[in-house]
Amino acid sequence: MKTLLERIIADCKHYTSQGHVATYIPELANVSPDKLGIYVSMNNGNEYSAGDCESSFTMQSVVKPLILLLALMDSGIDAVRDLVGVEATGKPFDAFNYSDQALTGAHINPMINTGAIALCTLIHGTSYHDRFSRLMELTRKLADNQNLDVDYSVYQSEKMTGNKNRALAYMLTAYGMITDPVEEILDCYFKACSISVNCKDLANIAHIFANHGIHPITGERQFPAEYAKYVNATLATCGMYDGSGEFALTVGFPAKSGVGGGIMAVIPHKMGIGVFAPALDKHGNSVAGVQALAMLSHELELSIY
Ligand code: DON
Repeated sequence: MKTLLERIIADCKHYTSQGHVATYIPELANVSPDKLGIYVSMNNGNEYSAGDCESSFTMQSVVKPLILLLALMDSGIDAVRDLVGVEATGKPFDAFNYSDQALTGAHINPMINTGAIALCTLIHGTSYHDRFSRLMELTRKLADNQNLDVDYSVYQSEKMTGNKNRALAYMLTAYGMITDPVEEILDCYFKACSISVNCKDLANIAHIFANHGIHPITGERQFPAEYAKYVNATLATCGMYDGSGEFALTVGFPAKSGVGGGIMAVIPHKMGIGVFAPALDKHGNSVAGVQALAMLSHELELSIY
């Protein structure tokens, strides 16, 4: 497996020159575009890695499955489904152009920005500071890493410039989908996107989703299996945005990308994978990361379809 991962890194490295690092969050532009790392946590307890797997990067949209999970844990499936739908939009993650006259939950899903911002309101807490602290704690627990924290430079950078998300949040308010103060919700969302991780952290988180909420090593249940199935299903249909259909065909398992260059991939009952390569394609998905997952999927026949 180690040899295979090293071959994948060597063969996919050139794809890093085919994408561009995100610049719309200014701080993300400072990353070197040629990095590529992968980490695999397997159900038999073995872990393998190759390439730049120790580099840190911010979760960005990879945190959306955790926002969804905590909303499910705190408010339950009915409340989550009433607020945010599950259908793929076929549009970019920050799209405004909803076709109907009135924006409803059916138009959005938990993996796009509007859906994730709305779901922050279903996380319990006495304040948004408290809600974010609970999300941070859950992320540390699932990643098995108590040292995880927010990258405050990226957080400040997005908070200063995130006017598209501000507009999306006001649109949710205008259509009565959220009622809490927009800046407080966004502060929680921006901090969540700015949690700094590495490939191992993502592989550990994915591994628990792959085992339907049970920690694969300790056997301890972290959350109900039905929540894992809910999250995994939305990853399969919406996790790679308007590239989700292509990803299902060429790679074939639930995954979530982020504009920091990370991808968290869930292979049910088998393994969790974290990859990192910050140069992105037009959808905001890591170019070399997707290629590395495609090669791994092909070599080990991991497609679930
Ligand atoms: O809200 C944003 O635009 C970013 N914090 C996250 C977007 C993102 O990661 C989209 N992913 N590919």
